[in-house]
Amino acid sequence: MKRFYITTAIDYANGKPHLGHASEKTLTDVIARYKRHMGVPVHFLTGLDEHGTKVQQSAQKKGVTPQQFVDEVAPLFKALCEKMEISNDDFIRTTEPRHKQVVQECLQRLYDKGEIYKGEYKGYYSVRQEQFVTEKERLPDGSWPEVYGQITEIIEPNYYFRLSKYQDWLIDFLNNNDFVFPKFRQKQVVEFLKEPINDLCISRPKERLEWGIELPFDSGYVTYVWFDALINYASAVGMFGEKFDECWPCDWHVIGKDILVPAHSVYWPIMLKALDIPLPKGLLVHGWWHLSGQKMSKSAGVTVDPMEIAEQFGPDALRYFLTREMNVGQDADFTFDIFMARYNGDLANSLGNLVSRLLNMTGKSFPEGLPGASVDGELETELQKLWETTHKDVLDMFEGMAFHTALEKIFVFITAINRYAEQRAPWKLAKSKDENDLALYETSLATMAEGLRLAVAALAPVMPGICAKIYNLLGAGEIGLWKDELDWGTRLKGNVLGQKTILFPKPEIKVEE
Ligand code: ME8
Ligand code: MG
Repeated sequence: MKRFYITTAIDYANGKPHLGHASEKTLTDVIARYKRHMGVPVHFLTGLDEHGTKVQQSAQKKGVTPQQFVDEVAPLFKALCEKMEISNDDFIRTTEPRHKQVVQECLQRLYDKGEIYKGEYKGYYSVRQEQFVTEKERLPDGSWPEVYGQITEIIEPNYYFRLSKYQDWLIDFLNNNDFVFPKFRQKQVVEFLKEPINDLCISRPKERLEWGIELPFDSGYVTYVWFDALINYASAVGMFGEKFDECWPCDWHVIGKDILVPAHSVYWPIMLKALDIPLPKGLLVHGWWHLSGQKMSKSAGVTVDPMEIAEQFGPDALRYFLTREMNVGQDADFTFDIFMARYNGDLANSLGNLVSRLLNMTGKSFPEGLPGASVDGELETELQKLWETTHKDVLDMFEGMAFHTALEKIFVFITAINRYAEQRAPWKLAKSKDENDLALYETSLATMAEGLRLAVAALAPVMPGICAKIYNLLGAGEIGLWKDELDWGTRLKGNVLGQKTILFPKPEIKVEE
């Protein structure tokens, strides 16, 4: 059976992972976990981009071989996945034999078909971006855009891939298909294709770059790193092998806006087309995280260490923040003030308080098991109705990639449960000798517990660790398929609830800004 196949970009292995990497993996993980809760079989791939000039240079600086260098970096990215509760099924490194072999097979096939030819290259090259840049990209004052870093002029014989031949096909494809989400990003691609595109130089002479995959038809060259890297999505799931179509075509490549044009929206579809391989179904393009208005990146030296934040506040809090504050497609801002406001407000005060209030009262009054709801009051009906609309909205929003608003809705519901508790004031009812008050006391605890359970089931793709823990405290087992989890019911009745715990402790040390 075909699985829902989703990938992240593979990160450059030239330094430590940063918050942008953590955010992209979290976004992809939220989708993967959401799909699994919908009963869809999922394959989730992430990995590392280990070849290219940058890695070679970083290794040189450190006085180690490139292989040693990437072998030291890879565990850092794997540790980030573990720390962040990323549920990837596979982690590909482009230095692995399974990948190199497929890249060479692609090159050989394209060469045999005449899609690759030898020519001479004269041009300007950006080491930072691993790409040649053209005159038309110069700024009015003759300098190059800052993103390219240092530009050098180069003349050399090289191999070319016949990209331009497919330009009209690609334009036609984009005019007839929704390929890029959000839509405005697809328009950028169409805009880019209004100018003629050049064939793509896909080789680097070994004198200039050794650290890459050798061309199968000319041992004097290695493969251009983007041509190598893009193929990871297919090599990891056994391209050209028998089981390839269990995953392929890929459902979503999740990427940042900086690598949409031309790599993922022009090179990759054309590479696949030339190889007679079906295209992925879509590119999901997120914006950038900014730190005090600047893009975070290794080369700019502006980073917030996601490992430190996850260590101090827990991975779920970081995942919550990243999902709550990013409207997929738009840029977002990271500041510790906003982070702390979310942590203290939504997590500690709303969710955390609800949990400890409930467990506190059930622990004191009903240690033998949660009572049922016997009163069908107006407040109870109101809360259940709010859940019905929340449930529907949350499903629509997850389907439409509006995760930030889905979280907003769920927290409106959590706030409503807390308001319900204030109105019923079970702590007062607990002291009453009146039978009606006792029934209302039981009802209010049962209602709070069921509301909490539903909110937590809906939050599970975003905060899997905390949600599993709360489900456990409710004696509700594991969070399974959403079709079995998201309807208001009575399944908690009789459960012995866990001890009161602090899920989101007040932080003792503050992270340096
Ligand atoms: O581009 N906010 O690797 P990379 C959000 N190896 N996302 C960010 C970000 C930020 N501040 N900074 C980076 C590469 N990213 C290539 C990809 S795929 C075949 C090869 C995102 O480590 C970025 O947009 O520079 C990209 O999707 C991913 O992190 C890896 O970036
Ligand atoms: Mg980058």
